[in-house]
Amino acid sequence: MADAFTLADGPRLFDRLSLQPSDSLLQLIALANADPRPDKIDVGVGVYRDPAGGTPILRAVKAAERILLETQRTKAYLGSAGDARFVELVKPIVFGERAAADDRIVGVQTPGGCGALRLGADLIEKADPDARIFVGQPTWPNHGPLIECAGVEMVKIPYYDTASRRILFDEMMDALKDARAGDLILLHGCCHNPTGADLDLDQWKALTELVSARGLVPFIDLAYQGLGNGLEIDAQGTRMMVEAVDQALVAQSCDKNFGVYRERTGSLFIKASSAEAAGTAFGNLLQLSRTMWSMPPDHGAAIVRTVLDDPDLRADWNAELIEMCARIRSLRARLAAYDERLRYIDGQNGMFSILPLSTDAVLELRESHGIYMADSGRFNIVGLSDENADLFAAAVVEKMNE
Ligand SMILES: Cc1ncc(COP(=O)(O)O)c(C=O)c1O
Repeated sequence: MADAFTLADGPRLFDRLSLQPSDSLLQLIALANADPRPDKIDVGVGVYRDPAGGTPILRAVKAAERILLETQRTKAYLGSAGDARFVELVKPIVFGERAAADDRIVGVQTPGGCGALRLGADLIEKADPDARIFVGQPTWPNHGPLIECAGVEMVKIPYYDTASRRILFDEMMDALKDARAGDLILLHGCCHNPTGADLDLDQWKALTELVSARGLVPFIDLAYQGLGNGLEIDAQGTRMMVEAVDQALVAQSCDKNFGVYRERTGSLFIKASSAEAAGTAFGNLLQLSRTMWSMPPDHGAAIVRTVLDDPDLRADWNAELIEMCARIRSLRARLAAYDERLRYIDGQNGMFSILPLSTDAVLELRESHGIYMADSGRFNIVGLSDENADLFAAAVVEKMNE
């Protein structure tokens, strides 16, 4: 029998916690799963789906896993920077071959794009506690919490108007006039989540001019490279801006373009004004990583490294990525062709788009048609299939007509 200890009076530590709202997207997945209607349409969850509705493991990834199983000889610690060869191989994919040898750009492996964003925000806070991050709205709902948890102030600025379906470029540029030298601007490198609306190259150029002239620092989130218009085109804006400025952060994810979501595979790159400053930043990244996850998980990065280091696997990965990208583009084209008011969808990129529907209309579509999309009207294009894309478009257009 355990001894009866006397418990001290006073408030209990965990009783001080307040209830947190549950993640609305996870709730949506649960709701969609529980709906027994066979013709329900789940366009809520943000993963790639093939025509059969699955999220399969890419052939090259499976092959790399087999190779790792046979050849990996140790699970000993790798260190806080993670897999250095993985970072070395990802660097030219993000920045182009010319930047591969640029020693002002350094990177560390992170647990996915989320880890990269959080690490970047922590580094910013450490470098300058007064620096603020300007973030266009709407944005991916986790950006705000990741930035603010690191103790960095977030300033919301306009980016996109859902009703008129256009990027508020002039408004965004105008709002940036309030930024001080050393403040940051968070940008989606491609495939903007949740809107699908990306800056065109002229806009990237104008923004690069403003960022340079005012001494701002870009913090680019590149989570979907290859899923918009291919690996090269999707990186054009990022490359142009990073080349022009002397300081930047790029949070990169392989979770989507390698389909290794749960393996948490990404990296954070810093461009500093000199190789020496980059080396110091690298040392600070290691120290910060050590206090958060100590070392990033290995398996995803080992897979990506194995694929990229093998010409055949690399070619096969490229081919499958092109197939995924083409499927997204063809579903976009199909929706756009359905009705004039959906035409804007084809001019956008990546898996997501926002429909100009009220929350009530979104909920009605859920009730009446079993269509599951986020309350904001954000939907995942590849949640659709060739069979139900037109049914989805018809239901949406009917709602728009009401
Ligand atoms: C815009 C954006 N950035 C970053 C991430 C994080 O990616 P990861 O799953 O690699 O952490 C996501 C994931 O949904 C995203 O949509």
